[in-house]
Amino acid sequence: PLIRLEDYRPSDWLIDTVDLDISLHPTQTRVRSLLALRPNPAGQTDAPLVLDGDELALKALSLDGEPLDASAYAAGPQGLTLHAPPRRGFTLTIETEIDPAANTKLMGLYRSSRVYCTQCEADGFRRITYFLDRPDVMSVYTVRLEAAKAEAPVLLSNGNLVATGEVPGSDRHFALWHDPHPKPAYLFALVGGALDHVRQDYVTADGRKVELAVYVEPGKAGRAGWALDSLVRCMRWDEKVFGRNYDLDVFNVVAVSDFNMGAMENKGLNIFNDKYVLADPQTATDGDYASIEAIIAHEYFHNWTGNRITCRDWFQLCLKEGLTVFRDQEFSSDERSRPVKRIADVRTLRSTQFSEDAGPLAHPVRPRAYKEINNFYTPTVYEKGAEVIRMLKVLIGDDAFKRGMDLYFERCDGTAATIEEFLACFAESSGRDLSHFARWYEQAGTPAIVASGRYDAAEQRYTLDLAQSTPPTPGQAEKEPMVLPVRLGLVGTEGDLPLRTQSNAYAGDGLVVLDGPSLSIAFEGVTEPPIPSLLRGFSAPARLELDLSEADLLRQFTRDSDSFNRWQALQSIATRALVAAGRPGADSGALGATAAELGRALDGFLAADALADPAFAAQVLRLPAPADIAREIGKAVDPDAIFAAHRALSTAIGSALLPRLSGLRQALETKGPYRADSASAGRRALRNELLGLAALAAPADGAALCEQQFETGDNLTDRLAALAAMTLIPGERRERLIARFAEAYAGEPLVLDKWLMAQALIAEPATLERVRELMRHPAFSLGNPNRVRALIGGFAANLTQFNRADGAGYGFVADIVIALDRTNPQVASRLLGSFKSWRMLEPGRRRQAQEALGLVARTPNLSRDVSDIAERALA
Ligand code: ARG
Ligand code: ZN
Repeated sequence: PLIRLEDYRPSDWLIDTVDLDISLHPTQTRVRSLLALRPNPAGQTDAPLVLDGDELALKALSLDGEPLDASAYAAGPQGLTLHAPPRRGFTLTIETEIDPAANTKLMGLYRSSRVYCTQCEADGFRRITYFLDRPDVMSVYTVRLEAAKAEAPVLLSNGNLVATGEVPGSDRHFALWHDPHPKPAYLFALVGGALDHVRQDYVTADGRKVELAVYVEPGKAGRAGWALDSLVRCMRWDEKVFGRNYDLDVFNVVAVSDFNMGAMENKGLNIFNDKYVLADPQTATDGDYASIEAIIAHEYFHNWTGNRITCRDWFQLCLKEGLTVFRDQEFSSDERSRPVKRIADVRTLRSTQFSEDAGPLAHPVRPRAYKEINNFYTPTVYEKGAEVIRMLKVLIGDDAFKRGMDLYFERCDGTAATIEEFLACFAESSGRDLSHFARWYEQAGTPAIVASGRYDAAEQRYTLDLAQSTPPTPGQAEKEPMVLPVRLGLVGTEGDLPLRTQSNAYAGDGLVVLDGPSLSIAFEGVTEPPIPSLLRGFSAPARLELDLSEADLLRQFTRDSDSFNRWQALQSIATRALVAAGRPGADSGALGATAAELGRALDGFLAADALADPAFAAQVLRLPAPADIAREIGKAVDPDAIFAAHRALSTAIGSALLPRLSGLRQALETKGPYRADSASAGRRALRNELLGLAALAAPADGAALCEQQFETGDNLTDRLAALAAMTLIPGERRERLIARFAEAYAGEPLVLDKWLMAQALIAEPATLERVRELMRHPAFSLGNPNRVRALIGGFAANLTQFNRADGAGYGFVADIVIALDRTNPQVASRLLGSFKSWRMLEPGRRRQAQEALGLVARTPNLSRDVSDIAERALA
């Protein structure tokens, strides 16, 4: 059934307290749940009580302690209905039995390598017991966990530990947990197993003593330190920047090896995909260190933006996710380089969200309807949702933004809130009408800003014309103008020129707000023809169409005071050239001149600036992704042509840099043992970017460099970079290094995931067969989401091989989606999302992709997750 935002009604019943008694057993876990129910004054009084369930079996049921007559209720796997509940407060005691070992969907209570754990967001709690499984029903939980001591010496749940003890006359023990903060069921969690941990005491700014701990599989405690360190840093940061203190006596993080997503913010008990917890120099890359820091922070920040203030319904998902992504981005920016973080985030936004917005799965930041909510944990809700918050801050200014956040925390604390309530806080703090801005939550699609400028030398006037439009998206044919904050500057020969204008669209401080279809602004006293620097810091999630000459862009690259736009200037040159050369029927000679220009510019830049900010330089060297070029071309896309152009340009740039390469790589070497800090990571990033270029420009020498770096490297970052660069060089030596890598990291599943992925990404026709073979490798398992994402997800991200002209790539992925759907629908539907850009392909591939999608769609007994994606992709 389609669930619609406008159909929201408050629950007829509330649940004030929940007492859970869970006796853990691998195949027969018994759950006794005591609910204190009462009619909701805001609901209907004559309503039956309908509790949600999913694959449940009822064992016993009583009301106010009395067993209920079978005629009083109806119970099935999908729900429990009391036909005529009392019109007053009462208790229900519900007993269910579940089989965690058989739970391959990894929703609800399941076992992952002998550890019991839960994932309840969005609607997994109903797989544990019958409940009002909706976020606006908030309850105080008391949880007794019992298990065999040998099997689960560690027993964790939300809140504070109240008691532990033995179960007399048995080999079992128990732990009693109490969480004083009312919460929705999706934030419930438990963990049971034999786990090691690292711990640290923490005192909050307002004086609360907190015990922090990170739990990991036995033997892995040596890899938990970075996560714990990140936790301490993000807790301090949230106190300092948002004034938020932690609110329980313990905070636990647990890493499990089978997990559908990245991590989950369960109150006081965050559960993580171990990929985002475990790190040491030998088994994690610089990128892993950075994402662990970011995701630890993200889940911790949810304690306020998500848990203390939760969502009224799942349409409000971006209320917690967009805001929390914004918060984790800000944290990482403060911990590391702000400009480099912004560039990295925009790359992600463009490659994931812009492509979603441009295809059949496009939806607003706040969707209006869904069939399966788990399909809406998307780049649009998360990343575009964060961009909306960032724009809000730019528009109303830092002070009003801060006061609005404070007001939100104060006013909405303890409630299940809406976007409207959130925005009202900022309307109040800024004194502005935000009703037009709110359209960002309603309208899908990536706006395009078309900009052009005229310089009048006699009048010393520069006139800037801006116009916006948003292409149609599914269900939204007509688009309204958005509120687009355009940060800008005028770049002259000596840097930024002063901005003087009478226009009332100009908000001062380099900010123009484009909120109608178009506007025109005249800047006065402009003493030379300027280069417009627009969308500084990427101030709005829009596409900018501005026709600057290559010479102007090169000048902007050297002169702009905004690092983001310096980076963007070269990206724009590359994009334009790649679009021209990658178009159907284009001649690849089109690249020549640009390649030479870019090569010269980069060479000069590296000579002057590389050592000053290597992380930034690494971003400058990295071309836009081929998929971004495909989206810019937009129709009749030929992935092979785009890829060939991309290869040619990279190779030409590599050749231009070749003379400088080894000297620079030497200068960038980090001395001493591996350190994960962002300065060292930046040096490695640039050094390895250069290695990739060497592999393309001088394959024989490049291969030798890769071998040498692999054999002498003392950390995974450098060794994996060596493997990745070597995958660009077909031949014997590549196969040898691939084998060496597998040997070196045998028994390290998270490292072998990277090995699987590096191979799945090889842009050669033999890759499909290679991937099929790797599916039989002991390092692979269809049952583990990380393995599937690495190998099959990696292949589906391989532009040329997933999009093979013969359709074999589509067929392969479709078959796996169908097979996987029987065990894990969420992972299957994510994988099916790889088809999201199929409509922009040239007709031959489009037909093949459509056929593969059709094959999936016609499969009997599909999950709601997969059928929803298949239907929307085909619609
Ligand atoms: N709330 C989690 C996070 O972003 C994600 C959980 C998603 N789970 C799901 N089943 N869709 O931190
Ligand atoms: Zn989140």
